[in-house]
Amino acid sequence: MDIQTIINLLIFIFPAYIANAVPVLLGGGAYLDFGKKFFDKHRILGNGKTIRGFLAGVLGGIVAGGMISFFILLPFFLDTKTQFLTFVLLSIGTMIGDALGSFIKRRLVIKPGKPFIMDQLMFLLVALVFAYPFVLKTVYEVNALIFLFITTYILHVASNFFANKIGWKKVSW
Ligand code: CTP
Ligand code: MG
Repeated sequence: MDIQTIINLLIFIFPAYIANAVPVLLGGGAYLDFGKKFFDKHRILGNGKTIRGFLAGVLGGIVAGGMISFFILLPFFLDTKTQFLTFVLLSIGTMIGDALGSFIKRRLVIKPGKPFIMDQLMFLLVALVFAYPFVLKTVYEVNALIFLFITTYILHVASNFFANKIGWKKVSW
């Protein structure tokens, strides 16, 4: 992969990172699962997923995608409109993936806030599935996917570490 492709991939996935990060600052209020339990008597999603956090994440991703689309058209898209629409889907997919990760964690009886591989990768996986319909296939080549997953993992771990250090987040993951 050349450096230009790497930069383009980072711009492509940026709205997903914003969507994933915004709830840490703006989340709160009613729980996404309304405090309800699943059949296994454990919470469906847990206290870490709020409606406001979900919506703020989606909106944050859309704003980031809008700003990117105002300035650049990535080679992964036919036109700016398609690109922006994909950023909207990417943002929704990010937050659904984030909630799905929590759903799986709760089934495995892992407490909210406790680290799990799902935290870093589930949101990316679902975001990429949601974005799939309108992206030209280059993003879904093996090299690009490996790059995105490894980079996301490292950035997620590093950013949570710093968010914890500067007091935005109680735990460092
Ligand atoms: N958050 C939120 N609403 C969401 C997602 C996140 O309010 N839909 C906020 C919560 O305050 C949450 C914080 O962002 O504690 C960090 O998010 P995350 O790490 O995804 O949640 P965890 O608390 O670790 O819970 P889980 O184990 O379910 O992932
Ligand atoms: Mg967490």
